[in-house]
Amino acid sequence: MSLKLLIRSATVEDAPAISALVTASAREHIASSLSDSGLSHLLSEMTTENQAKRIRSGYQFFVALESDTLVGTAAIRLPSHLYYLFVDTQHQRRGIGRQLWNHARDWIASSPNHGPITVNSSLNAITAYERLGFAIAGPPEENHGVRYQPMRWANAT
Ligand SMILES: CC(C)(COP(=O)(O)OP(=O)(O)OC[C@H]1O[C@@H](n2cnc3c(N)ncnc32)[C@H](O)[C@@H]1OP(=O)(O)O)[C@@H](O)C(=O)NCCC(=O)NCCS
Repeated sequence: MSLKLLIRSATVEDAPAISALVTASAREHIASSLSDSGLSHLLSEMTTENQAKRIRSGYQFFVALESDTLVGTAAIRLPSHLYYLFVDTQHQRRGIGRQLWNHARDWIASSPNHGPITVNSSLNAITAYERLGFAIAGPPEENHGVRYQPMRWANAT
């Protein structure tokens, strides 16, 4: 990796850039596994307003920056659910997702009262989560037309 990656906690000022990144990524990578109504629901959850609400209400968001440009984001719904893990398409497969995950995992491990780490993987991301140490934890599920695979981190902290 040539450019230095900075990972820091997000603030509400980051909400527009987070919204833009996850929306573009969902359209590109997740849409094909969803119905039209599932995609509409997913995108409606990804607005700037909703990201700001999550940050204000205590979700722990991290942003990964290269030269002040947002290249990825991770979010934790307390105590230990990995709510988002997204890397901008042009920056994927360079280890940024793993660095964001390590950051999120270390944060959860040092937080009080955390349980096993879970994620609801979009169907396209299951292999990547397996490479990060997650295992399938039950059958695929669907909520508002959004299909996902419940997974749990196998090396429970
Ligand atoms: C999933 C995602 C965050 C991974 O980010 P990334 O920066 O490309 O991941 P990394 O380069 O750190 O790779 C981490 C591991 O996953 C593997 N991996 C990443 N993308 C993969 C893919 N599409 N298929 C198979 N393996 C993949 C890598 O090989 C690596 O494993 P290794 O270190 O054992 O070789 C990224 O692909 C993404 O944003 N996808 C679209 C959004 C999405 O679906 N997010 C999940 C929502 S629940």
